[in-house]
Amino acid sequence: MKPFESRDYRIFDMFNNQWALATAGDSSRYNTCTIAWGSLGTIWGGPGGGRPIATIYINPDRYTWELLKESDVFTVDFFPPEYRKALGYLGAHSGRDGDKVAAAGLTPKELAGGVTFEEANLTFVCHKLYQAPFERAGLADEINQGIYRNWQPHWMFVGEIIEVEDKR
Ligand SMILES: Cc1cc2nc3c(=O)[nH]c(=O)nc-3n(C[C@H](O)[C@H](O)[C@H](O)COP(=O)(O)O)c2cc1C
Repeated sequence: MKPFESRDYRIFDMFNNQWALATAGDSSRYNTCTIAWGSLGTIWGGPGGGRPIATIYINPDRYTWELLKESDVFTVDFFPPEYRKALGYLGAHSGRDGDKVAAAGLTPKELAGGVTFEEANLTFVCHKLYQAPFERAGLADEINQGIYRNWQPHWMFVGEIIEVEDKR
């Protein structure tokens, strides 16, 4: 077991209430957006040998999605509570329209081939293993006719966690 696998993560609270950034690309070209949907778990190995993964759910209308699709690496970045305003900003502006990271006051840095931020206190660097859109045929009616009534479904991006920086 890798050391980070034995740490405690309040994952429901971390995603749903504290939010995170999903950051795609490398230091030559990257983009990030706020996420409140995400999963941590294991897959593709026997008992005790499953690969640790993070899964994020990104809509194709995001600029971050364009980079995620082309990237081998993405990061999932969590922040102390004082950065909530910055996360709100990054979730309401697009990287297509300018340097929103600078405008939010965050400092990008390279980590294990991906990009995270000096201000993050927990970063999962992920090697992408799978990407695909949710198929409408497989979605429950309440989801198709609810959130996706007038919207294209999100894509899921599954990444093996290859590095963790935990400053908590
Ligand atoms: C609190 C919060 C949570 C969000 N969660 C998600 C998410 O899980 N998936 C997603 O695709 N967009 C999510 N968004 C929306 C994107 O962050 C937003 O559309 C962003 O401006 C996209 O930026 P980009 O075009 O630079 O990628 C969220 C926004 C906020 C404010």
